[in-house]
Amino acid sequence: MELRTAIRQRRAVRDYTQEPVSAATLRELISAASWAPSAMNEQPWHFTVVTEAALLDEISSRSKEWMLKGVAAMPRPGHFRDLLADPDFHIFYHAPALIVLSVPGDGQWGAEDCALAAQNLMLAAVDQGLGTCWIGFAQGWLNTGEGHNVLGLPRQSRVVTPIIVGYPKTAPPPVARKAPLITWIGTMAAPPEPEPPPGASNGTLIHP
Ligand SMILES: Cc1cc2nc3c(=O)[nH]c(=O)nc-3n(C[C@H](O)[C@H](O)[C@H](O)COP(=O)(O)O)c2cc1C
Repeated sequence: MELRTAIRQRRAVRDYTQEPVSAATLRELISAASWAPSAMNEQPWHFTVVTEAALLDEISSRSKEWMLKGVAAMPRPGHFRDLLADPDFHIFYHAPALIVLSVPGDGQWGAEDCALAAQNLMLAAVDQGLGTCWIGFAQGWLNTGEGHNVLGLPRQSRVVTPIIVGYPKTAPPPVARKAPLITWIGTMAAPPEPEPPPGASNGTLIHP
C-alpha cells in the first residue's frame, strides 16, 4: 500500500470483529513501530501486548471508575459522565488486542518517542487491513500503581500510548480536518490550498 493511501485510510476504529490478530502480525506492527525516530536514538519504548479478554474488560471497568472520580474537571463533563457511567461502554470497544507503549519514566522525550512509534504502528496496521485507535481513556488508571501491576510494569514506568488493534467490522465515517494554520516565512510563494477530501464531515471530533 502506498504511504499516502495508508495515511488517508487510517481512522480511529471503534467497531471490531472478534477475529483474533495473530501474534506474528502484532509482532510485525511492533517492528514497524520500532523504526520510528527517537530522541538520542534511545528507543525507550516497551510494548505490552494484552489479548486476554477478561483483562481488557477489567482495565476498561477500572479506567471508567477512575475517570468518573475526576469527571467534573473534564471538558464536557455531562457528556463524559453519561458515557463513563454506561455499563455497556467498553473503552476498548471489545477489540481483540491492546498494545501499550510505555517508557521507563525518567527520560525527557518519552511521550514524543512513543507517539511517533504509535503512528508507525497505526499506519502499518492499515497496510495489514487492521484498525486501531489510541485509547487515552486508559492512560489515567494504567498509570496508577494498580494499573502498572496488572501490566507487570515497574512502578516508575509511564504509560504513554494504549493502542487497540483488530479487524474493523465497519468502516468508520470520514472525519473532517481543519484547514491547517500555516505561516510561510521566506520568499517562497505559498501554493494554492488543496481541496478538502471528498465526503469529509465533522464526524467524531472528540472521542465518543
Ligand atoms: C492522544 C489521543 C487520545 C485518544 N483517546 C481516545 C479514546 O480514549 N477513545 C476513543 O474512542 N478515541 C480516542 N482517540 C481517537 C481520536 O478521537 C481520533 O483520532 C480523532 O477523533 C480523529 O479521528 P480519526 O483518527 O479517525 O482521524 C484518541 C486520539 C489521540 C491522539
